[in-house]
Amino acid sequence: DYQDMPQEKSLDHTIALLKEGYEFIYHRKDKYDSRVFKTRILGEVTNCMIGKKEAQLFYDNNRFSRKDAAPSRIQKTLFGQNGVQGLDGAKHHHRKAMFMSVMTRELLDEVKELTELEWDRAITRHQEEEFIVYEEAKRVLTSVAMRWVSIPAQEAENEWVNELSDLFEDASAIGPKHWKARMSRSKAEDWLEQLVLDIRSGKKQVDQNRPLYQFSTHRDLSGQLLEPAIVAVELLNLLRPIVAISVYVAFTVIAVEQFPQEVEHLRQKDDKRLQYFIQEVRRFYPFFPFTVARVKEDFEWNGFMFEKGTLTLLDLYGTNHDPDNWEQPDHFRPGRFEKWEGSPFDFIPQGGGEFDIGHRCAGEWMTIDILKVTLDFFVNRISYEVPNQDFTYSMNEIPSLPESKVKIKNIRKK
Ligand code: HEM
Repeated sequence: DYQDMPQEKSLDHTIALLKEGYEFIYHRKDKYDSRVFKTRILGEVTNCMIGKKEAQLFYDNNRFSRKDAAPSRIQKTLFGQNGVQGLDGAKHHHRKAMFMSVMTRELLDEVKELTELEWDRAITRHQEEEFIVYEEAKRVLTSVAMRWVSIPAQEAENEWVNELSDLFEDASAIGPKHWKARMSRSKAEDWLEQLVLDIRSGKKQVDQNRPLYQFSTHRDLSGQLLEPAIVAVELLNLLRPIVAISVYVAFTVIAVEQFPQEVEHLRQKDDKRLQYFIQEVRRFYPFFPFTVARVKEDFEWNGFMFEKGTLTLLDLYGTNHDPDNWEQPDHFRPGRFEKWEGSPFDFIPQGGGEFDIGHRCAGEWMTIDILKVTLDFFVNRISYEVPNQDFTYSMNEIPSLPESKVKIKNIRKK
C-alpha cells in the first residue's frame, strides 16, 4: 500500500542541479509538496530528501549504505579512493574510531593554540598592511594542519597551500580544473605515502600522539597495517578540510561586518556567545550542499517505496533553512542557538546522526574550535578597516565564496 514518490518529468536534471545549486531540493519540496521526491541526475534515478525526519531516516545504517555512493569523479579529487567516506558497518566503525581517537580534548586544545599562534604571526607579517582574508586563512590553516598532524619539514609549505586548496576548490569542476585537482591529489598522496614508509621503517621520527604516527601505525580489523596509499588518503581527510575551514573564516568575517549589532555580544569574552555566532555562520551560509548514500534494501517509509541501490541525496543546506525547524531561516540570528536542543538531525552543515557509527563529519568539533578562536581574534585582538567591495556569493558554486574573498586593510594588533 504505497504510492510512487513525486517524480520530475523531464529527462535529466543535471543542468538544473548545477544552476540551482544549494536550492535545488529546497525549491522542489514546495513544487511537489513533498520532502521526498525522485529526479534524474547524471543519467541515474535519484531520491532527494530534505528535513529533520528525513535526515533521521538517511542516517539509519540499516536503510542506507555508502558503498559506491559518491560519484567517482568526486572521489578522485575531494575524498580520495578507499577512504572512510565509502565504508559501511564494522569496517567503517573501526576506521572512524581512528579519526575520533585524535579528536581528544587535549589534541583539540593544541589546534586552538596553533590557530591563535598562526593568526598572530600572520598579523605580525602584515602589520598596518592589507590582506585577502580567505587567502591568508588558507596559509594560516595549512600551517596549523601540517603542525597538528605533525608533518615534518616545512619548506614546501607554499606548495601545500595550493595543492590542498585545489582538492576542495576544484572538486566539482569539470575540464582542466578537474585534472589540476587530480594532479594535486596524486602529488600530495605520493609525498604522504613516502612519509608513512619512512615512519614505519624508523627512518623518520615524529610525535607519537599526533595523527601522522597514529594513522601510520593503525591496524585494521584483521590486525594488518593499512596500505600506505590508504593512510595517505586518510591523512588528506584531515589536512584538506582543515584548510577548507578558510571558506567559513571568510563568511565569519563578513558576518562580523554585516551584523554589527550581534558583534557587540562578542566583546565580553563569553565563550557561549562565540559559539552561537559560529553555529549561526555554519547554519546560514552555504558550504556542503548535500551528502549521498544508496538504499541498502527495499523498504517503505511514510507510504513511499525506496528501492534497493537507488542513489539518495540528503539536502544539508536546505535542512538548515527548513522553516519547520528554523524560525525566519533567512535571518542571521545567533541567539537562536540559545534555545536549540542539540538534535543531531535538524542542524547538519557537516552531516547528521552520530560520529562513531555514522558518517557525521569527524572534524566538526575542530571546525567550531578553530572558528571560535578566529572570531575572537578578529573581534577582540585586532583592528582593521573594510574597504568597499563585493560581498555577494554564488548559490550554485561549490564551494561558494564571497566575490571579493574579503579584503581588509590597515590591520593592527590592539
Ligand atoms: C565528513 C563537512 C571540516 C573530516 C563530512 C561530511 C560533511 C562534512 C558534509 C559528510 C557527512 C555525511 O556524509 O554524512 C565539513 C565541513 C567542514 C568540515 C563543511 C568545514 C570546513 C572537517 C575537518 C575535518 C573533517 C576540519 C578533519 C580534521 C571529515 C571526515 C569525514 C567528514 C574524516 C568522513 C566521516 C565519515 O565518513 O565517517 N564533513 N567538514 N571535516 N569530515 Fe568534514
